[in-house]
Amino acid sequence: MLISPAVALIDREPSPPSSRSRVDPVEGWLPVRLNHFDASNTDTFQMRFYYNNEFATSNNIVIFVGGEWAISPGWLTGGLAYELANATGAGLFYTEHRYYGMTRPSNDTAVAELRFLTVDQALADLAQFIQHVQSEQFDDGRFRGGKVSLVGCSYAGSMATWMRLAYPHLVAAAFSDSGPLHAQEDFPEYLEVIAEALRTQGSEECVTSIAEAVEDMVQQLATESGANTISEMFNTCSPINGSNPLDVATFFWFGITETFAYLVQYARPGDIPAACEVLTNVNVTDPVRRLANWITAQSWTQPCIESRYSEQVAAHTNTSYDASDANMRLWTYQTCVEYGWYQTTSSTRQPFLSTVPLQYFHQMCKDFFSTYFDENLLRSGIQRTNLLFGGLSHLPDYVVSVAGGHDPWSPMGPNVTNATPLAPVYVVPMVSHCRAIRPTGDSETEELEATKQAVLRNMQEFLDGRLPTPIESSAATLTPIAFTLAITIITLCNWKFVLL
Ligand SMILES: *[C@@H]1O[C@H](CO)[C@@H](O)[C@H](O)[C@H]1NC(C)=O
Ligand SMILES: *[C@@H]1O[C@H](CO)[C@@H](O)[C@H](O)[C@H]1NC(C)=O
Ligand SMILES: *[C@@H]1O[C@H](CO)[C@@H](O)[C@H](O)[C@H]1NC(C)=O
Ligand SMILES: *[C@@H]1O[C@H](CO)[C@@H](O)[C@H](O)[C@H]1NC(C)=O
Ligand SMILES: *[C@@H]1O[C@H](CO)[C@@H](O)[C@H](O)[C@H]1NC(C)=O
Ligand SMILES: *[C@@H]1O[C@H](CO)[C@@H](O)[C@H](O)[C@H]1NC(C)=O
Repeated sequence: MLISPAVALIDREPSPPSSRSRVDPVEGWLPVRLNHFDASNTDTFQMRFYYNNEFATSNNIVIFVGGEWAISPGWLTGGLAYELANATGAGLFYTEHRYYGMTRPSNDTAVAELRFLTVDQALADLAQFIQHVQSEQFDDGRFRGGKVSLVGCSYAGSMATWMRLAYPHLVAAAFSDSGPLHAQEDFPEYLEVIAEALRTQGSEECVTSIAEAVEDMVQQLATESGANTISEMFNTCSPINGSNPLDVATFFWFGITETFAYLVQYARPGDIPAACEVLTNVNVTDPVRRLANWITAQSWTQPCIESRYSEQVAAHTNTSYDASDANMRLWTYQTCVEYGWYQTTSSTRQPFLSTVPLQYFHQMCKDFFSTYFDENLLRSGIQRTNLLFGGLSHLPDYVVSVAGGHDPWSPMGPNVTNATPLAPVYVVPMVSHCRAIRPTGDSETEELEATKQAVLRNMQEFLDGRLPTPIESSAATLTPIAFTLAITIITLCNWKFVLL
C-alpha cells in the first residue's frame, strides 16, 4: 500500500467551521469551457458548486472560492463568507477548482490531460460561473445583475485577488486571506518563518535543539548502522538508504520539515509551546530522541514515514483521480509549471541545515511528469505567472488582504508596503494560515477578531462604492495593550489612509 505519510501542505480544504445554518447547501453543476483561450474549441466539462440561498433577499452574490481541494458544504454554513452573505442579503456559493474534487475535465490525470490545469483557465471558469449566476438561467434570474464578492484563502485567496485584476467588470470586491501573489522558484523564507514562530511562541532552545538533532542525524545517516538507528527511532516504513541523496531528502522533507510545516501553518494557540516542550524536555538528553519523540507522536507521520523516493514517485505518478495522492500530484503539477514555491533549506536562518535542496524539487517535477518538466520550463512558467498577474508590484483595487504574522506563506503575499487606499492589507501578529476566513466571535487574539470585523466592514463599503475605513473603530473595544498593538498595526497598515 502506498500511503503517503505526510499531509501535503497546501492541497487541503481549510477545515470548515461548525455549522450555524438551518439549511443544507445544495450541489449544482455548470458546464464550462475546457479551453477558454482557444475560441475554436467549444468542448466543455462539468464544474461543481454548492449553493445556499438562506440569506438571498437581494441580488448580491458571495462566492467562497475553492482552491486545490475537493469542496464540501461546510464553508457555506459558517465563516466569514457566510457572515458576509448574511450582512448583504446575498446568495452564497462555493466553487470547485478544475481538476480537484469532482470537477474533472478528463478521465485521468495523465500528463497530456493536465495541459488545461492552469490558474488562468480556473479564473475563466469562475468568470463563466459568475456570468451564469447573474443571468436569467440561474434560479429564475434572482441574481440578475447582482454584485459579486469573492472570499478565498491560500491559493484561492490569490485567485480572488487575480479575479478582481482580470475581471473587474464581474467582481465588485474581493477578500484574500493568506494568498501568495509572487511566484518564486526557491522559497527558503517558508522555513525561516517556521523557525521564527518556534522561537517566538516556543523558545530559542527549541530551535537550537532541532538544529542539534538534525546535525547528529545527518552524521548518523552516513553509516549503515547509524541509518538503521535513525530509521527505528523515527519509525520509517523501511530502513533509510543513507547513500541515496533522494531518499535522505525524502526522509527530511516528508518526515521532518513537512511535519513542522503542518504544526506552524495550522497552529492554534498552545500548539507550538506544547511541541517545544517535548523538543526541549530536560529528562531526555539526546536531541535526536527528543525530536523523534515529537515527530512519531504526530498523526500525519502515521502509520510510518515513507523515506523511499521511488515509493513517493510511484504514489504520485498514479494517474487515477481516486489515487490517495491525486491532489498532491495535481498541486505539484501547478508548482512545476506556474509557481515553484519550493520550501527548501537554502536559508541559514532555519534549523534543518541543507537537508532539502532545491534540486530535490527539480527532480520531483521530472519524475512525476517526465523530463520535459525541467528547470527551464519551471522558470519560464514562473515568469509567465508573474507577467500575467504582476506579482506584488500591483495590488488591484477593491481587494482586502490579510496576512498572518506567523503564516509561513506570508513572505509571498502582500504586506503593509503594498497597501493602497482601495486595497488595505492587515497583518495580524502571531496568527497562522487562513485564520481570518473563520467565524467572528471565535478568534484566538483580539487583533484577529478586530481584523475579521474590519474585513466584513470593508467588503460592504466596497459594495457601496465607499472608501474602506481602517481597523480603529472596532479596536476601541480592545484592552489597552492589545489596543496599542492594534493601533501600531493600523498605523503601519493604513498610513496611506491617514494621509488621505
Ligand atoms: C444574521 O445576522 C443577524 C444580524 O447581525 C444576526 O442576528 C443573525 O443571527 C445572523 N444569522 C445567522 C444565521 O448567523
Ligand atoms: C473519457 O472516457 C469516455 C469513455 O471511454 C470517452 O467517451 C470520453 O471522451 C473520455 N473523456 C475525455 C475527456 O477524454
Ligand atoms: C542505496 O542507494 C544507492 C544509491 O542510489 C544504491 O546504489 C543502492 O543500491 C541502495 N541500496 C539499497 C539497499 O537499496
Ligand atoms: C522530568 O522528570 C521529573 C522527575 O521524574 C518530573 O517531575 C518532570 O515532570 C519531568 N519533566 C518533563 C518536562 O517531563
Ligand atoms: C492507483 O490508484 C487507484 C485508486 O486508489 C488504485 O485502484 C490503483 O490500483 C492505483 N494504481 C497503481 C498502479 O498503484
Ligand atoms: C513587504 O513586501 C515587499 C515586497 O513587496 C518586500 O520587499 C518587503 O521585504 C516586505 N516587508 C516585510 C516587512 O515583510
